[in-house]
Amino acid sequence: MPSVSNVAERAAELRELINHHNYRYYVLDDPEIADAEFDALLRELQTIEAEHPEIVTPESPTQRVGAPVGDAFAPVTHRQRMFSLDNVVSLEELEAWQARLTRVLEREPSGYACELKIDGLAVSITYENGRMVQAATRGDGVTGEDVTANVRTIEAVPLVLRGAAPALMEVRGEIYMPVSAFEELNARQAELGERPYVNPRNTAAGSVRQKDPAKTAERNLSIWVYQLGHIEGGPDLATHTETMGWLHDLGLRVNPANRLVADLAGIEAYVAEALAQRHANDYETDGVVVKVDSLADQRAAGFTAKSPRWAVAYKMPPEEKTTLLRDIQINVGRTGAVTPYAVLEPVFVGGVSVTTATLHNEGEVQRKDVRIGDTVIVRRAGDVIPEVVGPVESLRPAGAEVWHMPATCPFCGNTIVLPEGEAKARCTGGFACPSRLREYLFHFASRGAMDIEGLGYKTVDLLLREGLIADPADIFTLDREALLGFEGWGDVSVGNLMAAIDAARDRPVARLVTALGIPLVGGTVARTLARVFRSLPALMAASEDEIVAIEGVGPEIARSIAGWSADPENVRLVEKLAAAGVRLVDPEPEGGPASDLLAGVTMVITGTLDGFSRDGAKAAVEARGGKVVGSVSRKTTAVVAGANPGSKLQRAEELGVPVLDEPAFSTLLERGADALPPG
Ligand code: IVH
Repeated sequence: MPSVSNVAERAAELRELINHHNYRYYVLDDPEIADAEFDALLRELQTIEAEHPEIVTPESPTQRVGAPVGDAFAPVTHRQRMFSLDNVVSLEELEAWQARLTRVLEREPSGYACELKIDGLAVSITYENGRMVQAATRGDGVTGEDVTANVRTIEAVPLVLRGAAPALMEVRGEIYMPVSAFEELNARQAELGERPYVNPRNTAAGSVRQKDPAKTAERNLSIWVYQLGHIEGGPDLATHTETMGWLHDLGLRVNPANRLVADLAGIEAYVAEALAQRHANDYETDGVVVKVDSLADQRAAGFTAKSPRWAVAYKMPPEEKTTLLRDIQINVGRTGAVTPYAVLEPVFVGGVSVTTATLHNEGEVQRKDVRIGDTVIVRRAGDVIPEVVGPVESLRPAGAEVWHMPATCPFCGNTIVLPEGEAKARCTGGFACPSRLREYLFHFASRGAMDIEGLGYKTVDLLLREGLIADPADIFTLDREALLGFEGWGDVSVGNLMAAIDAARDRPVARLVTALGIPLVGGTVARTLARVFRSLPALMAASEDEIVAIEGVGPEIARSIAGWSADPENVRLVEKLAAAGVRLVDPEPEGGPASDLLAGVTMVITGTLDGFSRDGAKAAVEARGGKVVGSVSRKTTAVVAGANPGSKLQRAEELGVPVLDEPAFSTLLERGADALPPG
C-alpha cells in the first residue's frame, strides 16, 4: 500500500496537471490531451481524495461544487466601484465621444483597446495571494451579492492563479453561457417537455443566482475577463493591453478578439468587423467596448457620476430579417388571457433560429397591419424576445385579409371576450379550457411558485390526458397506484413525484399566492401581500381599499385581487386545496409578536423620524402586533408624522385620522393602544 506521503504527493501532482490542462483548454483554447485522458486524471484524484479525505484542499479541482447556500446572497462591498459604461449607437456618437475625450486630455490618446461587449453578467472576483476567495455580482456598482459558491463551479475561473500573484486583486469580467451550451440545454428542456429558456444571457444570470451550486455547475458557464479592479502588489502596469496580457499569464480567460488600435479609423474598422462577425463566436455580443489604452490617460480623463470618460460602449443595433408569416394562431395562458402569435417560416436572426413571435393582442396585429401570407420583418436584440416589426407591403399577396380574433376558443369552444377598456381578450372557459388549465398547472408547479420538481409540461400533459387532474388541488390527492401503470413511471419516479408534491403542501403563503396566478400578482407582490396578511383566507376576505392601502400595491392590482377572490370558481379551488392539506396560513413570524400592545392597530408612517429608520419604526409596530400600511384610509388608526411629511399627513387631516409626532409615537410603543388620542 502506498504511504500517505506518496499519496499526498501524487494528489498534488494531479492537481497541478489538471490545472495545467484546464488552462490549456479554457484560457489558451489549445488542449494538449484528449477529454478522456483529462477525465482519467480527474477520476484518479477523486479516488485518492475519497480514500484520504485528510489531504483534500479547498482549491483542489475536485472541490468546485459545494453545498447549497442559504436563503439570501450576502451583500459584498466592492473595494473599487464597478462602473457601467455610457452607450453610443452610431459612428457619429462614437466620434463625438472621441472628440470630447481629446478635449479633456488636450491631445489624442495614444491608443485604444477595442473589445467585444459580451452579453452576460458582470462579476468581480477577488484573489488573495493567488487564491480565489470571493465572487460578487455587480449589484448597484457599490454593493453586489456574494455568489462565490456558484462562480467556483465555473471551470474557466481558476481557483488558483499561475505564477507570482499579487497580495490582493479584484478581477472583473463577464460570465456568459456559450450559445452551444444554451442550445443543448434547450434541447434537453424540449425532451423533458419543459419550457425553453429565452436567451443565453438571462439563463447565465439565473444560473449564477442559483441556491444550489450543483445546478450552476451543470450549466457550462464560462467567463471573459476584461478589467482589473482594486489591486495591492503586482507589477507596474502602464496600459490596459499590458494589464490584460498579465491577467492572461496569471491563467485568467482574456478574449483573443481584443485589439489595440491607434485611432478613430482603427476603432471604426474594429466595429465593422465585429458587426460582420457577430455570430461567428460561441457567445453572444451586443456591442464593442472601446477603452483608452494608457492608464495614465485613463486617470487624466477620470469619471462622470456613473461611468468612466475613458471608455464607451458602442451598442450594436438589433438585427432584422424578413421571412414569411405562415399563420397567426392564439394561445390561452394561465389566467385565460388570449395572445395571438406569429407562426413564421424559420429564420436565423440575432444568433438563433426564430419560428414564432408574440403579437401581444388583436389591436397590435391591426396596428402593425400584418396579415397571413405577408413577408414580415423580424427583429431580435440581445436579451429581447423576437418581435415582428411589420410587413413588407410591396410583397403582400393579393387577397391577404386583416386578421381578427376568433369569436370562440379553439381549445374549449367557449366564447372569447374583450373586457371593456382592456387590450387583452380572454377565454371564458375557465378551468374547462384545456389550454388554460395546462398553462395554469404548469405555472402552479413551477419553480417560483409551488416548486413541485418533476411536474413539468410532460407530466402535466400525461395527468390531463389520463383524466387524473382537473384543477391544481387534484395534484395533492393523486393516487400513486394510478401513476404506476404508465409507461416510464416506476416505483422510483412515482415516489419522487409524490415526495415533491408532499413537500409542496407546506410552502409559504407567498408562493401559494404566486402559484394561484391572480392576474397582475407576481412573486414580488405576493410576498408583500403575504407579509401583511400571512394568510390566504385573510387576503381573500380583505376589501379592495384595505389592499390598496399596502405600500407597493396599486389600485389595478387591488381590483384584480378582489375580483379573483370573489369568483366562486376560485373560492371552491381554495377550499379544495385546504381540504387536500395545503397550508394556507404562515406561522407567526420568528417567536411571534413580542406583545399585543398594538393588536388591531393600523398605522401609516410619513416623513423622517430622528430615532427610527422607516424599517425600524415598522418593525417596532409589528413586534407589538400592529400593522404598518402605505396609505391613509378611514381604517387607519393613526398617522405618525416625522420631519418633511408628505401628502399622507394632509390626507390624515382630511379624514380626521389622529396624527402623532415622534414623542407621541414613542409613548404609544411603550404604553400601547391606550396611549392613542380618542378618535
Ligand atoms: S468594461 C469601467 N469591457 O458591459 C469599465 N464591460 O455597461 C467597466 N461588458 O457592466 C466595464 N463586455 O457587464 C467592459 N469587454 C467589456 C465588456 C463589458 C461586456 C459589460 C459589463 C458592464 C457593461 C457596461
